[in-house]
Amino acid sequence: MEFTIRKGKPSDNREVEYVTREAFWNLYVPGCDEHLTIHNIWTHKDFIPDLYYVAVTEDKIVGCIVFTASHLEDENSAQLEIVTFGPVCVLPDYQHLGIGGELIRKGIAAAKEMGYPAIIILGDPHNYCRHGFKNSRDYNISNSEGKYPLGQLLHLLDESKITGSVKWRFVYSDVYNVSHENLEEYDRQFPVKEKCVKPSQVLFNMLVRSYIE
Ligand SMILES: CC(C)(COP(=O)(O)OP(=O)(O)OC[C@H]1O[C@@H](n2cnc3c(N)ncnc32)[C@H](O)[C@@H]1OP(=O)(O)O)[C@@H](O)C(=O)NCCC(=O)NCCS
Repeated sequence: MEFTIRKGKPSDNREVEYVTREAFWNLYVPGCDEHLTIHNIWTHKDFIPDLYYVAVTEDKIVGCIVFTASHLEDENSAQLEIVTFGPVCVLPDYQHLGIGGELIRKGIAAAKEMGYPAIIILGDPHNYCRHGFKNSRDYNISNSEGKYPLGQLLHLLDESKITGSVKWRFVYSDVYNVSHENLEEYDRQFPVKEKCVKPSQVLFNMLVRSYIE
């Protein structure tokens, strides 16, 4: 299938929220909150508009990737600015066609071009190892609590900045700590969808409680 990847713009935002909701619905929990996360990202200080891409086919947005500013902090509180992406998603009917892979490749290349030393994400390793991500444990980088989540993955862009000899903690943007207070009200702006329990939610529940020694 023919598709193009282009920069996202503010007039795409609503359609991107719809795509995000469709892609994540019932996947990790009954319903989802990723569309509210992305809605909050548009106006958050950590949003990086130059690292916002959409996949388009026949004038329809079918996928997106959005990056935010994050940082590493060492034991002396020195900081290193890096980036994080998420959500990345593709409408269910358009998955397994290479679109998500292309969005991720485009995002990685653009982040490198902008001079960021690394991308760290929280995600399912199945989706990202093929794109050069490794567990951040391999680079001596823990989460903010000093633990090493299985899904905390790093793509190194500048080997001189992260060598493994310094112990870092990864601190992601607070925009991902989405409050569910307004979720139901926000969700009513979209077509009605039924929430249900799925095996993928059981797998996700294990993944988010898994750590590397
Ligand atoms: C994760 C996600 C973004 C991947 O998007 P995608 O467009 O399906 O990605 P790709 O098509 O590049 O790759 C997906 C799979 O299709 C395969 N594939 C890629 N091109 C293909 C083609 N032309 N023909 C057949 N298979 C193909 C890939 O090898 C990959 O294989 P896998 O089943 O072993 O994973 C998408 O599945 C999604 O939106 N998921 C829901 C939201 C989500 O979980 N986001 C990530 C949070 S961690």
